[in-house]
Amino acid sequence: MVPPRARRPEPPRLAKPVDEVPGGSLAALRRAAAGCRRCPLWRDATRTVFGAGPGRARLMLVGEQPGNEEDLEGKPFVGPAGRLLRELLAEAGIDPLQVYLTNTVKHFKFRMRGKRRLHSRANAAEQAACRPWLAAELDRLRPAVVVALGAMAAHTLFGNGFGLLRERGRWQVLGPETHALATWHPSAILRMRGPDRDAARAQLLEDLRTAAAGLDRGFARPSP
Ligand code: URA
Repeated sequence: MVPPRARRPEPPRLAKPVDEVPGGSLAALRRAAAGCRRCPLWRDATRTVFGAGPGRARLMLVGEQPGNEEDLEGKPFVGPAGRLLRELLAEAGIDPLQVYLTNTVKHFKFRMRGKRRLHSRANAAEQAACRPWLAAELDRLRPAVVVALGAMAAHTLFGNGFGLLRERGRWQVLGPETHALATWHPSAILRMRGPDRDAARAQLLEDLRTAAAGLDRGFARPSP
């Protein structure tokens, strides 16, 4: 007898509107996103930086948008912010290889200063154009826990009324089987100095520990 298939968790949903959720496997999504022309950012960027990590990851981290190094390597969080994030994940006892890392916007946006490409924040239209990819990643992975890094991801996941300073580190419900919380973006911490930086770093670490404890405590996907 063929054993019954494991029940898939119910899908989580973004608070902000999404015009369509593309179908296909995660690998098919990645291939389709590589040719994305939904907004003009593809013209200057080197490539689409799609999410990376195991398709069965129970923890998903959502950043803002790729930076210079991510654009060149084609992977999220490989630059300075990513190095801080990986250091904190390790301190929180989370294996970075078990985490699915992605971004709200999948192309690098920049302005030139001399020969340097300086990060420029994706605007509302560019964020909206990219939302179907994040919605599809959430739908395919159906993670138990999602961590929004910074305000752009938090607003996309929880809506514009969400206050990062007010509600940082507090559990939100993203779907019947997905809990989420928002915390500092590692780039914001790198821009800070002195005691503010130490405090924000400690808070990001605390929030990652909360996320790990949530997974351990039973924000778990049903076992096959
Ligand atoms: N900042 C982000 O939000 N994402 C990355 O991938 C790198 C830096």
